Amino acid sequence: MDKLRITGGRPLEGTVRISGAKNAALPVMAATLLTPGLHTLRNVPRLRDTRTFARVLETLGARIAFEGDRMTIDTHGVNAVEAPYELVKTMRASIYVLGPLLARFGQSRVSLPGGCAWGPRPVNLHLAGLQAMGAKLEIEHGYIVGRGVKLKGVRFGFDVVSVGATVQLLMAAVLAEGTTVLENVALEPDVTALGEVLVACGARIEGLGSPRLTIRGVGSLRPVDATIIPDRIEAATFAAAAAMTGGTVRLEGVIPDHFEASLRKLEEAGCRIRRAADAAEVSGPRRPKAVEVVTQPFPGFPTDMQAQMIAVCAVASGSSLIEDTIYLDRFTHVPELARLGASIELQGNVAVVKGVERLSGAQVMATDLRASASLVIAALAAEGQSVIDRIYHLDRGYEALENKLAALGARVERVN
Ligand code: EPZ
Repeated sequence: MDKLRITGGRPLEGTVRISGAKNAALPVMAATLLTPGLHTLRNVPRLRDTRTFARVLETLGARIAFEGDRMTIDTHGVNAVEAPYELVKTMRASIYVLGPLLARFGQSRVSLPGGCAWGPRPVNLHLAGLQAMGAKLEIEHGYIVGRGVKLKGVRFGFDVVSVGATVQLLMAAVLAEGTTVLENVALEPDVTALGEVLVACGARIEGLGSPRLTIRGVGSLRPVDATIIPDRIEAATFAAAAAMTGGTVRLEGVIPDHFEASLRKLEEAGCRIRRAADAAEVSGPRRPKAVEVVTQPFPGFPTDMQAQMIAVCAVASGSSLIEDTIYLDRFTHVPELARLGASIELQGNVAVVKGVERLSGAQVMATDLRASASLVIAALAAEGQSVIDRIYHLDRGYEALENKLAALGARVERVN
């Protein structure tokens, strides 16, 4: 099992090119199931998760070529409708194939995703929305089974803002009979980007970027030809690393608006940030200031940056409060950060972080994707050497992270 060995204490300096967004690429990959054809996706990040999703699509009969950041998906041969447990259990987003398969084939058998490192992640809104559109779904032996489905337009409101459920229903609605109105949808850039890709394929969608989407079903779509938007969470993670190490990092190939809440919070913590159309330069302070963070759906502060922000606050002057309102138990990184010398007290879904002068290197273990990112940036600021185990979690969502960090002057190497 791979580990990362990091010797901390050196400010990060230089330029890093940010990869395509994992959470934007997966929905677009799923959307190719809506249409038999040859689809082209550019700026696709080479990650465990994009490779896993490619395997899910191949299981369904698609043929995929992935060279560099360019992925071609041939869905002429898609003839199966089952997404097996073995694959879905390794990546929850596999459930995104459910709506497109029901829309195109009227049937599907998709494993219920299991839990994840930080507890239950229900899919009730996915199922409720599809059932509202006329899909009779049964749960049989851990699988969601739909047969003889003809999706119809419906007015549906989400009780909770959900990225996945919004993506799911948006894809189901574009080929449904009649008009679908979705209320209280997620506004994450990944959702808006998917909508724009679908419109480019001939879908009829109004309201993108607003809480209400109106989708008029069409008979068929043209193949996908899309460039994946840059990864706002990877970008914000590097910005947090600059904040922690007191360095200056220029993020290239980004859309600053997509991670404005993170940039603003880092400015509050003392960073100097210069924004351009497709870049942002972050200069960390000698020592970050304590801040208060409450995670919210986009455009609020993202839960996917909660762990990284706790790391920054661990070395801040003063006490910080970080509250996660999206996932109440997403704090498996806290005990690991404590091993690096952080002083954090958990009160339910609120972390009270008492800043310390310096962290000290230690052996720690990654538990999930963003937790591992917080351990990496904490190790970069810690005195001495750290070894982070189980970094396959990191490989799910960060492309060649150690190479990008080394290019910024970090002393980091992958050992297995
Ligand atoms: C997406 O997960 C992201 N994953 C997550 O990023 C991210 O943390 C999350 O959105 C929130 O921004 C992908 O895009 C692949 P949700 P998703 O549905 O869609 C509740 C990462 O690190 N909910 O927006 O699963 C849910 O429990 C990953 O890249 C229901 O109650 O998240 C949560 O409290 C981790 N019922 C809230 O909604 C449902 O049917 C938001 O979850 C669905 C969700």
